Order: sequence, then C-alpha cells, then structure tokens
Amino acid sequence: MEKRIPLFIANWKMNKTSKDILSFVGVFKELVKGMTHSCEIVLAPAAVYLAELISVTQNTLIKVAAQNCGGSKSGAFTGEVSPLMLRDLQVAWVILGHSERRHIFKEDDSLVNLKLKAALEEDLTPVFCVGEKLEERKAKNTFAVIERQLEGLKSFSESQLRSLVIAYEPVWAIGTGENASPEQAQEVHSFIRKWLSNNISPTFANRTRILYGGSVKADNSTALMVMVDVDGLLVGGASLDPLSFSEIVRQGLNS
Ligand code: 13P
Repeated sequence: MEKRIPLFIANWKMNKTSKDILSFVGVFKELVKGMTHSCEIVLAPAAVYLAELISVTQNTLIKVAAQNCGGSKSGAFTGEVSPLMLRDLQVAWVILGHSERRHIFKEDDSLVNLKLKAALEEDLTPVFCVGEKLEERKAKNTFAVIERQLEGLKSFSESQLRSLVIAYEPVWAIGTGENASPEQAQEVHSFIRKWLSNNISPTFANRTRILYGGSVKADNSTALMVMVDVDGLLVGGASLDPLSFSEIVRQGLNS
C-alpha cells in the first residue's frame, strides 16, 4: 500500500495583508524546517497575495494554494481568477467547494464540479471540500450529503483525478470551537474512502489523502491524526499564527 504523506493546509480565508504574510513566513519557515521532509505544508492566502507568497517561500519546501478559482480558462467572468492564471503564477494547489463558498457564495455542486474540471485541466492539485450542516447531521443525513457532494467525481477518470485531495469539513465545526470528535471524523473519512474505492478504484482510495477541517488546534491535532483515515488537517483560525500552526503540524506528526 502506498504511504499517504501527511498534509497540513493553512486556509487564511480573508485575513492577512502583505506585511502579515511576510512576518508569518519569516517565523514559520524556521519553525517547520525540521518537519517539511516528513509532511507537506501548504499555505493558502487571499488571491492577491499568491505571487508574493510564492516568491517568499521560494527556497523552502512550503507550498502555496489558492482558496478558490473560476470554472474556465478565461472569459467574461468579472472578479474571477482562472486556473490558467494560477498555473501562470506557479500556484500548484487550489481549495474548491469550501463550505463558505458553498453556503455564503451559493456555489452549488455543479459549479464546484465545473471548477474542479477547469482546475484538473491545468494540472492543479485540487483540495475538494465536503461537509454537512448541523441540521443535516441532526437529521442523520450526513452520509447522503457527502455522497451527493462526491457524485461529480464519477465524471472523471482515475488518471484525471490522480492528484485529488479531499477535505471533510463539517459546517458545524468550522470557526465554532467545536471540532468533530476523532471518532466522528474517522466515521466520515472511512465512508469517503469506501466511496472512492467503490466508485473510482481501491488503489485510488488507498492513496488519496483525506483531510479533516473544523476547529483544529494544537491540542486536538494528535488525536485527530491518530485516526487511520485522517491523513492531514485543513486549518482556519489556528493557522493565522505561525507558532500555533507549526505546533499543529508538530503534534499531528506525533500521532
Ligand atoms: P477553523 O479552523 O477556523 O474552524 O476553519 C476551518 C476551515 O474552514 C478551514 O478551511
């Protein structure tokens, strides 16, 4: 079985300006120097700072992701940034279908799938986010919601999807301080892996990384990463501080 390299992603959302990014990287790159060989670390700033972050992380193993992208190469889509533009900036990763995109900006499954297609065409590594809302969990619809969100993956071949990363982010755990318990995360991650095995292939399911996101902190990172199907963490609030995010990585690798 192929080993799944632990992956830690900082999603800075609409936070940090140029000055903050420079000071974060200055401190963070020293803190994670000894860890970048045993895991992958990715930082996702706002789109306007992607080029700057690419430049200041150049001689490090730290990678850079966009938080979103448009669904075509170019065209009349005011305000959008295309996957071709990301590729042009040497940004290799993109977060897609984040719950804030789905729920605040009303991106539905078909739009998220269109963006996925466009991102894969530019050879970007997509971090495809899924997750249920509180009322959906309470109504015992978690698996049905995840299944619906994954459905679009069936329209791609295994080789098209080769770089795919999936992130399970229960909406009720995002920014609330209430993380899913390690057992709750494991239950959904294992469901996702089974789905990938049945609908793409067992080999694909075995090597695809599934991240957990939602109120991750240094003090729950080990417990989450201990779970067999949790291969990494997608961190919001606690990734804004270099000490806190590096501690999440350190504790996660201690699992
Ligand atoms: P928090 O870590 O702030 O809960 O955010 C999670 C998230 O949305 C990461 O993409």
